[in-house]
Order: sequence, then C-alpha cells, then structure tokens
Amino acid sequence: VSLQNFNTFGIQAFARYFVEINQKEELQELFADPKWHQTERLILGGGSNMLFTQDFEGLVIKMNIRGIQHRINHNEVTVEAGAGEVWNDFVNYCVDWGFAGVENLSLIPGSVGASPIQNIGAYGVELKDVFESCEAFEIASGNFVHFNKADCRFGYRESIFKQEKKGQYIICSVKFRLFTQAQINISYGAISTELQNRGITEPSIRDVSQTVSEIRVSKLPDPSTIGNAGSFFKNPVITAQQFKKLVAVHPNVVHFNVPDGVKLAAGWLIEQCGWKGKIVGHTGTWKNQALVLVNHGEATGKEVFNFSEQIINSVYQKFGVKLEREVNIV
Ligand code: FAD
Ligand code: EPU
Repeated sequence: VSLQNFNTFGIQAFARYFVEINQKEELQELFADPKWHQTERLILGGGSNMLFTQDFEGLVIKMNIRGIQHRINHNEVTVEAGAGEVWNDFVNYCVDWGFAGVENLSLIPGSVGASPIQNIGAYGVELKDVFESCEAFEIASGNFVHFNKADCRFGYRESIFKQEKKGQYIICSVKFRLFTQAQINISYGAISTELQNRGITEPSIRDVSQTVSEIRVSKLPDPSTIGNAGSFFKNPVITAQQFKKLVAVHPNVVHFNVPDGVKLAAGWLIEQCGWKGKIVGHTGTWKNQALVLVNHGEATGKEVFNFSEQIINSVYQKFGVKLEREVNIV
C-alpha cells in the first residue's frame, strides 16, 4: 500500500500491511491473531508528523474512530473525541459551542488521537492544559486502559507515549476539560500584536481562533501544496549557564525563559546559519519559517533526512547547540 497520501510530507513509501480502524473493538479482533504481535507496527493518524525514509515492512494501523460528545457541568465541560477525528474539526466544534481552552491550538494538522503523543502546543497553550484522560488499547494484554494527565508525563513535545511506552498503546479517544466561560490567553506576543492591529480589545474565543489561524497561514506552508510536517526540530532548551556563554557571543539570540532553563528559537538559529528559504535538491527550508523543512515535489525521505543532518551540523558548529528532531522518523 502506498503511504504517499497518508503523510503530509507527500513522501512515497510503501507499507507491507495496512489496516483502518473505525471502532475500538476492531483492535481486539485484529490482535486476536498472534501474527500481529510478532509484526512491527506503526500507528498512523493524519501523518502530519512523520518522515518516511524507507518502506515499512510491518503493519500500518490507520486510526479512523470518529465521534465527539460533551457534558456540561456548571462552568466546566468535558468533551470526548474519537482518535480519528481531525484535530481542527474538534477545535471548531468547541469554538462553535463556545467552549474555551483549545482556540489557541486552531489549525494544527493531524488527529485527536495523536495530540497527546507529543503534547501538541502552539501560541501559549499545550494539550496538557486541557487534557483530562485518554482511553488506549494495550496491545500486549488486549485490554482498554485509561491514562490520566499525570500518567502521561507531558513535557515540551514529550509524553510517556514517545518514551518508555512507545508503540505499546493505541489511543482510541481523548477527554478534554474545557470552560463554558472564555478564559482568553493571549500571552504569546504574535497574537496580542495581531489583535491590536485589528483593533480588537476584548477578543472572543472565535477572535483568538481566527487570529491564530491567520498567523499560521502566513507563516507555515500548506501541506496540500507543499509537503512538510511543521517544525522539523524542537526548540532546544539549554541551561542558564550555557545561555550565559552563548549570549556573550551572540547577543541577539532569540530566547524565552522556561522553568528548566532557556529555550532558544531553533528557527532563528537555522536562519542565522543561512538556511532560511534555501532550496537544496528537492528539499529545503520554508521561506517564512526556517524551522520547517519542505518537499518541493520529488524529495525522498532520505534526502530530507540528510538535509536535516546538514542543518544540525551547521547549527552545532556555529552555536554549539545540538538540535533534536521533532518529526517521527520511520
Ligand atoms: P501522525 O503523524 O500520524 O503520528 C504522529 C505520532 O503519533 C506517530 O509516532 C504515531 O505513531 C503516533 N500516533 C498517531 N495516532 C496515534 C494513536 N491514535 N495512538 C497512538 N499513537 C498514535 N505540532 C504542534 O505541536 N504544534 C504545531 O503548531 C504544529 N504545527 C504544524 C504545522 C504543520 C503545517 C504541520 C504539517 C504539522 C504541525 N505540527 C504541529 C505537527 C503535527 O500537527 C502534530 O504532531 C500532530 O499531533 C500529528 O497528528 P497526526 O494525526 O498527523 O499524527
Ligand atoms: N524565528 C526566526 N526565523 C525563523 C523562524 C523563527 O528568527 O525562520 C524566530 C522569530 O524571532 C520568532 C521566534 O523565532 O519570533 C519564534 O517563532 P514562531 O513564533 O514562529 O515559533 P517557533 O518557536 O518557531 C513554535 C512551535 C510551532 C508553533 C509555534 C507557535 C516548536 C518546535 N515549534 O515554533 O509548532 O506553531 O511555536 O506557538 O516548538 C510544530 O510543532 O510543528 C509547530 C509548527
């Protein structure tokens, strides 16, 4: 099965076996066959955070479980969504109902089921701020289990599902805790500036959702025309001590203080190395956001991967900072 239409990089790769899951019970039926316990597996949502560098010799499990429901309880509301729901459809559902909490996460590509995997985040909000629990299929036992927020050990672009539990659970649905009264978060500079430009002083959640969407459209390439997986690298977090040395040499380095040190804007580091908007073979970085690697049409996964290696090396040489990939490499 060709995976080209199942990854937003638009990379051609083939899967040996491919199955779509529409109801959680189908997972129990699937894994009743011992064959699949011995086969390498890859869970796939929207494929918007994947880079295929070779064919996949195992079983791809594409999650399509749908459905969104909510229950209001005073000022709070619990919304539960199936793993296969498109993330932005879920955000729109909440904005339409007037449920506050996910409007800053508007227009992030991908599925609801993948949102806890890397604790998706944007514009001052992370999934963990609204996550209540998720239901997952435990492959080894064949049971459905629940993870609450503490179980997930969320961090910046991190969770237990990327670390020690990697590949062991298939998320079937996610429960979110939102608010029926708006609690606007416009701490992220770009949003407040853009709202000011529009003369909006008391933004509604719809205003925030629209503003975030427009900022994103202006900065990020649309995968339907230019293959990409968003930020290819994480923003590196360094210690205060390391930062002191760095800023002495590079006084303009774009940075943000975070609890465990100083977070650097990887896009800035990459741009300073001269890579912004560069086209290298069939790949390159995006002209408006150097952190995003793109497929200009015919790129192979290996080509993109090798290019990312070049970027890591040049940022390391210039700044002594090691970039880490954010995209999942298969
Ligand atoms: P996939 O790419 O299909 O999978 C990602 C990972 O999750 C894989 O390891 C996969 O095995 C696993 N997985 C997927 N579904 C499940 C499941 N149901 N159970 C268990 N494991 C599963 N991310 C951000 O955080 N913030 C952003 O602002 C942002 N902007 C982006 C902009 C663009 C233009 C693009 C293309 C991507 C952007 N991303 C961003 C990355 C991407 O949107 C997120 O990582 C998203 O959560 C991926 O969802 P997906 O369904 O496409 O996951
Ligand atoms: N910058 C540059 N040059 C660039 C890009 C950025 O100098 O080419 C500097 C600018 O100074 C800018 C700062 O970096 O002010 C921050 O840029 P931006 O607001 O675009 O955010 P980011 O740190 O580059 C992160 C996330 C994005 C998320 C945005 C908004 C990571 C790895 N990326 O990018 O997430 O949408 O913040 O919150 O944390 C993704 O994960 O795929 C993704 C797009």
